[in-house]
Amino acid sequence: MTSDRTDAIENLLREDRTFEPSEEFVANANLSDASIYERAATEEGFRAFWTEEGNGLDWIEPWTDLYEWTAPYAKWFIGGKLNVSVNCLDRHVAAGLGERVAYFWEGEPGETRTITYADLLDEVCQLTNALRDLGVKKGDRIAIYMPMIPELPVAMLACARIGAPHSVVFGGFSADALADRIDDAQCTVVITADGGYRKGATVPLKKAADEAIGRTASVQHCVVVQRTGDEVAWDDARDHWYHELIKDQPRIADPEPMDSEDLLYLLYTSGTTAKPKGIMHTTGGYLAGVATTHRTIFDLKPETDVYWCMADIGWVTGHSYIVYGPLANATTGVIYEGAIDFPEKDRWAKVAAKYRATILYTAPTAIRALMKYGADAFADDDLSSLRLLGSVGEPINPEAWAWYWKEIGGGRCPVVDTWWQTETGMIMITPLPGITTLKPGSATFPFPGVVADVVDEAGFSVPLGGGGYLVLERPWPAMLRGIYGDPERYESTYWSRYPGRYFPGDGCKRDDEGYYWLLGRVDDVMNVSGHRISTTEVESALVSHPSVAEAAVVGRSDPITGQAIFCYVILRSGFDASDALGAELRGHVADMIGKFARPKQILFTPDLPKTRSGKIMRRLLRDIAEQRDLGDVTTLADSGVVNAIRDQSGSGED
Ligand code: WTA
Repeated sequence: MTSDRTDAIENLLREDRTFEPSEEFVANANLSDASIYERAATEEGFRAFWTEEGNGLDWIEPWTDLYEWTAPYAKWFIGGKLNVSVNCLDRHVAAGLGERVAYFWEGEPGETRTITYADLLDEVCQLTNALRDLGVKKGDRIAIYMPMIPELPVAMLACARIGAPHSVVFGGFSADALADRIDDAQCTVVITADGGYRKGATVPLKKAADEAIGRTASVQHCVVVQRTGDEVAWDDARDHWYHELIKDQPRIADPEPMDSEDLLYLLYTSGTTAKPKGIMHTTGGYLAGVATTHRTIFDLKPETDVYWCMADIGWVTGHSYIVYGPLANATTGVIYEGAIDFPEKDRWAKVAAKYRATILYTAPTAIRALMKYGADAFADDDLSSLRLLGSVGEPINPEAWAWYWKEIGGGRCPVVDTWWQTETGMIMITPLPGITTLKPGSATFPFPGVVADVVDEAGFSVPLGGGGYLVLERPWPAMLRGIYGDPERYESTYWSRYPGRYFPGDGCKRDDEGYYWLLGRVDDVMNVSGHRISTTEVESALVSHPSVAEAAVVGRSDPITGQAIFCYVILRSGFDASDALGAELRGHVADMIGKFARPKQILFTPDLPKTRSGKIMRRLLRDIAEQRDLGDVTTLADSGVVNAIRDQSGSGED
């Protein structure tokens, strides 16, 4: 569709236009003084910044030292004791905010629930008591495998209240994946639901949980929320309905005093090997980190904002920026259960309009999917309440940025492109919307106090204007404390390449003004005839062509050039695949980046294989490009896509 690639967007991208915060935004911004960067750069200023932020939390016992760093192990708010659920709930209710809405929840079929802070505290206490009755105590690991329903944050907060670390496993994972995660952490309880709704169908979560539990030995109890009413198998000795378990429980439960460095949760993430890594996050530093970044980066005004992060709570974005950061800040949030384009393409816009959302936080993948539908699809929805937009999870190409800014933000909302990882726990590279002049496609600068650099293979800093590997040089409060049960892997994955510095695995370049441009994972960077080319850069070039809706690029080994660029392309409606169009696109990329970046092959495809979190499965695409075995595809959104792409690969070579 060409209609949504309006002249206005062309104009936005022309002449490298930058976007300064408006006077009105600056006047009301939580942070508007750029000197914060200089102040937080010194050790003294850094300590003062985080001391103040730490003091913003409620402590049962005060900490004595701010932090301790024996690379690669950090401790924060040393000696302090606190409880995360108290900081997210009790203290707000005690401050008279009990009637404030914590979450507006909407199920995919359309039912709604409005949950106040008082309601949330009540239910968390009831579940806390119920879990304690089942024998759960501080230190026990609890697996949570649930759809996007209010009981999911309730379960996380009840675990936090007990001091039992949770391991939330995204509901899109298979039984096998769940089993691996239960087993690795030796979870004793699984909290799940009979099912959840996704695109009009129900996802049988209890069935998968049963299979997973059957393959593991540690689980004693399974707590089941009734969501869909679908029939489920039942083991009387092990299974408990959530509603029956909590119904007679008191609405008061003592919070466990947790050491600042006690484990809050595990979250598994994929590494370069088949075995997922159980990323460990602890209590005080994590909470301070997510609360601070949430308040400053989203310019949160808890009295008036309605904040909607469209991620799934099963990923770190949901942990940090749907549950812990927002609740610590007494935010009113939106949780929506289902697909953003179901049953209508503009379901997301209807939800945003209904709750008068002021802040939207989503992923470039979603933005590009909406772009494909075109702005006409939500022309009738009133998005005038929006005042700030966020992006996370992958590099955002300038065209998607500009479209987001113009079509969703109406040209009045700053876009904060936030770079971070499961491991960092909190946002690390990001604009501050009342300070930063934005450049479409750049995550701009490290958060105040974050010390980042871009280095070459040997670890030398690359001067501005050049690219290399991103590294982080100073500990930060929400940083991972390790990989569960595998300190060696922790040290070798993140700390061995550049000893003493954290290596996130991302490529990055800085422009002459010091703006950071994240280039994607370094294993996605291609080397063609000795030229390093980011897959993202080629994708960005492709989607800037009027015919291209989405593109994924991988490097394919080539006897002459080392690697050759292999492109999977989804066309916008109205365009037909042809050799001529393929040649045009190759020429277009050559025009945009340089002749050395001319793709070797374009493969037109109706869809791309994505993980359930929406990330393009590059490994799989590389394998298809190399004509190798496909390997494990259990986290694939739609395995039909794989076959379709596989059947097509090999054709289209010119
Ligand atoms: C990528 C998601 C560019 C990056 C919060 C990182 C990004 C990985 C951005 C972490 C961004 C995340 N710009 N790339 N704004 N945000 N990434 O652990 O490659 O699911 O290493 O955490 O996503 O993914 P994860």
